[in-house]
Amino acid sequence: MTNKEDIFKKVISHAKEYGYVVQSSEIYDGLGAVYDYTQNGAELKKNIKDYWWKAMVQLHENIVGIDSAIFMHPTIWKASGHVDAFNDPLIDNKDSKKRYRADVLVEDYVGKLDAKIEKEVAKASKRFGDSFDEDQFLATNQRVLGYKEKGQSILKRLGKSLENEDLADVKALIEELEIACPLSGSKNWTDVKQFNLMFGTKLGASAEHSTDLYLRPETAQGIFVNFLNVQKSGRLKIPFGIAQIGKAFRNEIVARQFIFRMREFEQMEMQFFITPGTQKEWYERWKEMRMKWHLSLGMGQENYRFHDHEKLAHYADAASDIEFRFPFGFKELEGIHSRTDFDLSSHEEYSGKKLQYFDPALNKSYVPYVVETSIGVDRMFLAVLSNAYQEEELENGTTRTVLKIPAVLAPNKAAVLPLVKKDGLPELAHKIMAILKWDYNVVYDEKDAIGRRYRRQDALGTPFCITVDHDSLTDNSVTIRYRDSMEQKRVPIDLLNETIKDAVDSKNWLKALAE
Ligand code: GAP
Repeated sequence: MTNKEDIFKKVISHAKEYGYVVQSSEIYDGLGAVYDYTQNGAELKKNIKDYWWKAMVQLHENIVGIDSAIFMHPTIWKASGHVDAFNDPLIDNKDSKKRYRADVLVEDYVGKLDAKIEKEVAKASKRFGDSFDEDQFLATNQRVLGYKEKGQSILKRLGKSLENEDLADVKALIEELEIACPLSGSKNWTDVKQFNLMFGTKLGASAEHSTDLYLRPETAQGIFVNFLNVQKSGRLKIPFGIAQIGKAFRNEIVARQFIFRMREFEQMEMQFFITPGTQKEWYERWKEMRMKWHLSLGMGQENYRFHDHEKLAHYADAASDIEFRFPFGFKELEGIHSRTDFDLSSHEEYSGKKLQYFDPALNKSYVPYVVETSIGVDRMFLAVLSNAYQEEELENGTTRTVLKIPAVLAPNKAAVLPLVKKDGLPELAHKIMAILKWDYNVVYDEKDAIGRRYRRQDALGTPFCITVDHDSLTDNSVTIRYRDSMEQKRVPIDLLNETIKDAVDSKNWLKALAE
């Protein structure tokens, strides 16, 4: 097992042990790719959503938020193209009987080429030491260039075959690359088939009078079909955006990697309505703005990259992913898509209703173009959690496990710890709890020695521990211990609120967006 796989396994078990995420229906042996967020996970998830909503809705005069229903008229999914085109190419291994997404098998193969490049870089960096120039190495090393070129040409061919629905060529590609079933090593594959990812359900009391519905596979359509309601009631002028956070459902075939690919998940989407012809400019601007949002959390610039799509979804004329370095490699975290007027025009056609905007500046009506930003809450949660998980060697030879979650997102902002369970210290600690709880989630802990309690809060990701000791009774001060540096400082109780606020206030984090 590689070190990275090892860390990922530890993140998953840490998430369960410390009240973040568990498998859904666990006592019934679980349900594939469905997860429940427990007490700390629910808070972290809520904080991620708030951080997004503030950045997108509150800080933009021209973006408003909505909350549309999960159930929608079934024709919507015909108009959006999901009934006909929301498919994954499937392939079965005849020996292991395991089912895979054919495109994922090929992408994983290319991922291995990327890993080889990383290995070459590591080797060369070791060899050349301080004089190593990574950019130059990547641009000139023949072996690296060979891997790069091979990866690019494979992805290009895959993109073309999928776009042309040439599933026979996808199979041919798998055979040519000699890709084997990861489980059995067998190369005995079936043909590639398409499989629709939408979940069906029924509306109505009796079988004869029921209507077939789908659980929405994206929240975006709830925005499109409400475009005119929101524009008119809000008297919004183009360019403007509509944002939404909500559940989406996909019958994923290859459900793996914990909460990375789930069957029930949440999306944070924003559709930005613009004048046709300006989509390139807005697409680039939203790519930049969304990357800034990610970087504002301080999780390391080196952990993000753009990946422009070769293979475009049925609705897009340009698309790019913001990829994050998960423990299993760089993978999609967010998508930015230039969706043209595909959705609104199609809804016009299927509903028979006009979905046009009268532009006073141009003195004409048109169907707006749309640039979309779409990020999965759960995927963002995994990015935060896996990046935060660290095992640190301390000077005294011990190891501490700490979740260095950005303080603005941390589930609990502080833990209040009386040094001992007597002498009036618990009472003073509770008084401090009563002051802080109006502004933050704070927890109280009096069990075990103080050192163990610090470690417990480190593992939970709590940015501050506030220790109440005997001196506190007379000097009205407490010791604040910082999670990341483990530094300790004496602070008057009166200044506690301010000290915490400085570190956790979203304003201080989101300021980076204006720079
Ligand atoms: N409205 C556009 C749309 O839905 P997408 O690329 O299919 O585009 C957008 O999904 C984002 O939703 C992804 O970048 C990812 O973060 C998240 N997402 C998609 N499928 C997911 C799944 N099965 N589990 C968790 N998150 C998912």
